[in-house]
Amino acid sequence: WPVFAPYIHAINRVKKERGAVILAHNYQTPEIFHCVADIKGDSLQLARDAVSVDAEIIVQCGVHFMAETSKLLNPQKTVLIPDGRAGCSLSESITGADVRLLRERYPGVPVVTYVNTSAEVKAETDICCTSANAVDVVNSFDSDTVLCIPDEYLAMNVANQTTKKILTWKGHCEVHERFTADELLEYKRADPRIEIVAHPECHPSVLAVSDYAGSTKGMIDYVKTKRPARVLLVTECSMASNIQSEVRDVDFVKPCNLCPHMKRITLPKILDSLLFMTEEVTVDPTIAGRARLAVERMINLKN
Ligand code: 13P
Ligand code: SF4
Repeated sequence: WPVFAPYIHAINRVKKERGAVILAHNYQTPEIFHCVADIKGDSLQLARDAVSVDAEIIVQCGVHFMAETSKLLNPQKTVLIPDGRAGCSLSESITGADVRLLRERYPGVPVVTYVNTSAEVKAETDICCTSANAVDVVNSFDSDTVLCIPDEYLAMNVANQTTKKILTWKGHCEVHERFTADELLEYKRADPRIEIVAHPECHPSVLAVSDYAGSTKGMIDYVKTKRPARVLLVTECSMASNIQSEVRDVDFVKPCNLCPHMKRITLPKILDSLLFMTEEVTVDPTIAGRARLAVERMINLKN
């Protein structure tokens, strides 16, 4: 990628000079994912790895809640996000005040909060989860009923895998809610060999026509080990581009949907972030302790 080369060289040089580490989510574009990132993965991997980062500066290539999670786990370190406007429709669907109202309405019911939320929301929760461990986290409670918020579809998908009664919220991922079972079945009809691999933020009817469902890491692992001849990744478009070079024998079929928030992170913005130490992510100290506890409980959960 000659057009990216000057940025890639500059970022890697400044990163070294500053002693910084770049964390990148699986939805980052290939030039970020392959050429400048030091640690890559799904939300759970990034949260786990953020605990042991051996650097004073973390540049988070992902969305804002991911950078906040890194800051919660590294309060003494400087956490930067190359574009602070990189949000998430799930994170924006709920506030801390909403969670307090839910607690009043369902007293004693444990609250499991998806990591795709603000620190303010995490602070009101018992424990966080990601799409990789949501079922285990829900099952870790003795209670018959569990609040699993704010992703309605993730909660419905968890409900299909547990005996517990799951209460939820009306949040949706603007990327995954767009996929429909009908469009996927059209692809299957056109070529029955196509395997459908979906993210649990999709509607349960989408998972019902899928061969596998899991977190972004789970989806990647499935493709790398199973090596389907043709596969449709029901998720953000960069995933297929990021792994194509490792699985040249696999044909990735569209459709995919772009996450406009993830796509706010670009090489020029990463370089600026490192040069000017922007934008620094901070968490209100009055909520940081409780929010950290919710994330740490998830990380420390066995399984
Ligand atoms: P993963 O935890 O599966 O990487 O998902 C994060 C996300 O934002 C998916 O839309
Ligand atoms: Fe949020 Fe969906 Fe984008 Fe993931 S893909 S960051 S859940 S809007």
